[in-house]
Amino acid sequence: MPDEPIVLAEALHKRFGDTNALDGLDLAVAPGTVCGLLGPNGAGKTTAVRILATLADADSGRARVAGYDVAARPDEVRARIGLAGQYAAVDEKLTGRGNLRLFGRLYHLPRREAHRRADELLERFGLMDAADRQVQGYSGGMRRRLDLITSLILRPQVLFLDEPTTGLDPRSRGEIWDAVRGLVADGTTVLLTTQYLEEADRLADDVVVIDHGRVIADGTPDRLKASIGDRLDVVLADPAGAGDAARVLAGIAGAHPALDGARLTVPLARGAVRLADVVRELDRAGVTADDVGLRRPTLDEVFLRLTGRDTEPDPAGPDTAEPGAEPGAEPTDEPARPDAGETAEPRKETVR
Ligand SMILES: Nc1ncnc2c1ncn2[C@@H]1O[C@H](COP(=O)(O)OP(=O)(O)OP(=O)(O)O)[C@@H](O)[C@H]1O
Ligand SMILES: [Mg+2]
Repeated sequence: MPDEPIVLAEALHKRFGDTNALDGLDLAVAPGTVCGLLGPNGAGKTTAVRILATLADADSGRARVAGYDVAARPDEVRARIGLAGQYAAVDEKLTGRGNLRLFGRLYHLPRREAHRRADELLERFGLMDAADRQVQGYSGGMRRRLDLITSLILRPQVLFLDEPTTGLDPRSRGEIWDAVRGLVADGTTVLLTTQYLEEADRLADDVVVIDHGRVIADGTPDRLKASIGDRLDVVLADPAGAGDAARVLAGIAGAHPALDGARLTVPLARGAVRLADVVRELDRAGVTADDVGLRRPTLDEVFLRLTGRDTEPDPAGPDTAEPGAEPGAEPTDEPARPDAGETAEPRKETVR
């Protein structure tokens, strides 16, 4: 990392009773980048954000944000950060403009400056038409956008976004993503927690996956995907051939395929596989495939592999995987989504 990290956490620990919310968390975010903090429910994401944003103290460990120690110099940190939590902090009875002016005043901006900044932000983030309407008449997406821009009043160097798009429809989510991209283009560093793996895929330069309060993987989305290897995808002409096809694919890949409808997916743990060989062996087993292809894993699959938790379990989903199969062969009811990065809707993880 060429630059000093603008967000740096070292060995953060935080306990709540018997729960180790953070268990030695390390984090380093380069200036001007988006870092996606991913983890299942209860992994410690919000706890980490609250400590970095000076809203909570760590039991031990150290964190610096924008050059200042969060415990020793919280005021310096606060002057340089913005935070948008999961639940909008805006006042329903006020208008959009009224909310922004109020926040500006709370941040001790002179009146004129508060008004000017409010209008500037409303304009820039496409809320000017709704500026004089009460927030209670806003859509969920507009509320979240307003909430996001209230955290921008002081032009933060570092913006913490805790699940900025949870519960939003795809269009509103896209609007928030555009807003975040615009901020990053201006040099803001963003630390974003999300339940949506696609969100991290689209926005984050680096992804940090945490579980039980510690980092279990990090890297660019591409590197994380590459780390678990390609998938072989076979769509059967007739699902009745699934058993035979699964045997053939298990022989080729050395892992047990997952079945979703007529589609079988198996991770390729070792070496290259020639598609022509796959087709020939399926043929020999009397299985007709509509489609045979190789694809990169989705971040969902990376997440499943790392945390052992699925992102959207489907209890009814059939599956040919056997317990005790090699690690690359965890059963997944995930439909293969070769186009996930482009069109698929992100899904919410489910706690189990
Ligand atoms: N104030 C608190 N009191 C007691 N336990 C807490 C408190 N805050 C967090 N925890 C516990 O610490 C752990 C981490 O919680 P945290 O909210 O940081 O997780 P998270 O990754 O943000 O989860 P989610 O995806 O559900 O938002 C959880 O087990 C949670 O129950
Ligand atoms: Mg949380």
